[in-house]
Amino acid sequence: MTRRHDLAVDLGPRSYPVSLTVGDGPALLAERVAALAPSRVLLVADATVADLHGAPVRRALGDPPVVTVPPGEASKGVARLEALWLALRDAGLDRDGLVVAFGGGVVGDLAGFAAATWLRGVRVVHAPTTLLATVDSAVGGKTGIDLGGKNLVGAFHQPSAVVADLAWLATLPAREVRSGLGEAWKTAVLAGDPLLADLERAAPRARAADPDALLPLVAACVAHKAAVVGRDEREAGERASLNLGHTLGHALEALAPPLGRDLPHGEAVAIGVAFACRVARRTGWLDDATCARLLAAGEALGLPLAPPWPVTLDDLRPLLALDKKARAGRPRWVLPRGPGAWGLAEVPDEVVDAALSSGS
Ligand code: NAD
Ligand code: GLY
Repeated sequence: MTRRHDLAVDLGPRSYPVSLTVGDGPALLAERVAALAPSRVLLVADATVADLHGAPVRRALGDPPVVTVPPGEASKGVARLEALWLALRDAGLDRDGLVVAFGGGVVGDLAGFAAATWLRGVRVVHAPTTLLATVDSAVGGKTGIDLGGKNLVGAFHQPSAVVADLAWLATLPAREVRSGLGEAWKTAVLAGDPLLADLERAAPRARAADPDALLPLVAACVAHKAAVVGRDEREAGERASLNLGHTLGHALEALAPPLGRDLPHGEAVAIGVAFACRVARRTGWLDDATCARLLAAGEALGLPLAPPWPVTLDDLRPLLALDKKARAGRPRWVLPRGPGAWGLAEVPDEVVDAALSSGS
């Protein structure tokens, strides 16, 4: 069985390789960076990741300056961004310089946005170390920070390369593996079979983060996202599908901290995907059997399928108005129309409330 997948995001002059490997990530990352011939490199690393996996990466990159970012969504904010800009200045990173983002989606989004804005844009290479970042956030060029709502400030800034070593996932806590499976499930619902069937079959091994089980699944998820981004880089149409589960998910993520709740992004997305399936069944977009199949796949992956605290539409309303797909303050929901099919819809309030409260 192959232990390496090489894919690409095809965007003309801004195309880039996405390499998935097991075990030789530091060397491959160094190879990709060297090929870009940067004047200088700044390594931006999640602090936990730097401790666990940083030494071989630093060595392979020739000991560049390193900025560590405290773990957690709270780092995806203005204060940490300013610290990063100052680090870029202090490192003397000029227009030929390169940022390497080494960590999960938080570091990828933050360092990607710093790179997008530093000197009006320098190159970034993503080296994702969570399952979620590997299947989703490292690819596609969305960067940004939170500002009272998720990802409200940001830029499209495609990386110059993505290198993911699935061996890095060996130290990932089980809850973070599950969170990544939330985005993988979302992708499988959108892509349909064979990915959905493969994910159903491999669910137990995927939950155990078995790299041999994950590698083909991750490759299929990345291939789906790369194809969508290649056709619709700036979300004029089809890319909105990748927001399946995110309208509710982002609102729950914003509500969680003041309530003292910890809700990883992928769990929030999974709750949003399950909600979208229920709404789609209520509006006739999904028949009962298809809805049951999609929800069963999420359950097999150990994902939460309902909000962990009681939520009503009134709790969500101000946050839903901030969703980037909203028009005139009304949310538009990405809903599945079957495995591999989707649509965008406004949904009557009573259907939203019923799907939120019924859990079925
Ligand atoms: P994260 O970056 O917060 O990482 C989760 C936790 O895992 C952190 O505590 C981190 O320290 C730890 N960690 C990371 N790698 C590890 C490893 N190999 N071993 C042990 N611990 C490790 O979370 P995430 O789930 O990777 O990313 C979530 C973020 O990504 C959210 O902010 C979300 O909005 C964003 N996102 C962006 C996009 C996009 O397209 N740009 C897509 C999806 C999600
Ligand atoms: N994660 C959604 C997107 O990249 O468009």
